[in-house]
Amino acid sequence: MKFPCRIDKFVSHLTELPRTKVKAGIKKNKVTVNGETITKFDHSITLDDQVTWQGESLKYLGKRYFMLNKPAGYVCANSDELHTTVFDLLDETHLKDFHVAGRLDIDTTGLVLLTNDGDWSHKITSPKKQKYKTYLVETQDIITSEAIEQLRNGVQLHNEKQPTAPAIVEQLASYSLRLSIYEGKYHQVKRMLAAVGNKVVELHRENIAGIALDEALSAGEYRLLTDEEINIINAK
Ligand code: URA
Repeated sequence: MKFPCRIDKFVSHLTELPRTKVKAGIKKNKVTVNGETITKFDHSITLDDQVTWQGESLKYLGKRYFMLNKPAGYVCANSDELHTTVFDLLDETHLKDFHVAGRLDIDTTGLVLLTNDGDWSHKITSPKKQKYKTYLVETQDIITSEAIEQLRNGVQLHNEKQPTAPAIVEQLASYSLRLSIYEGKYHQVKRMLAAVGNKVVELHRENIAGIALDEALSAGEYRLLTDEEINIINAK
């Protein structure tokens, strides 16, 4: 939500009522701003204004940032007809203008950041900003040194014009590696491993741009980001 803001939009956002209902309420003198009854739908308010709806004070919660340890089986979408979504795991109000800053596939686990701050999430997801996302990758077949070399140099994915940007790769065991990339192409890690003749069997994200998944969070748990974590993105 951006300020200054129209009163009907503000009340609709905070009450989660449709704009038509709010407008009807404004007509019936249900909205006050700083103690005065408002009659115009496009009355402009700032963050400092005190707004009430039917006598109840409405407080804007501002920009919020959460980290979630995503379990498998949840989709990174605001709503989905078939599957539960990461938002079903958040016991919070006013999530209407929230989005995921870098989606994971339904079967991928680990760090997901959710926010209503579009400028902040753009700094994470835009490839131009070169913010690395780090994944633990378990593979079906033994990882060869040639495959590691290819991933480090960049690989050509099907239906892409350019090869992937060089990845940071650390082999952890015969069938597992830690991979950091800053692009966010569709199914990128799975397609990169397919391009070097292997297959991802498990994928887990442990870090986004220096924000590490909190080990205290079990799968399905979440917490607010600290100011320090928020500023890692803003500072760069
Ligand atoms: N790459 C993938 O293939 N899947 C994810 O969920 C994230 C990155």
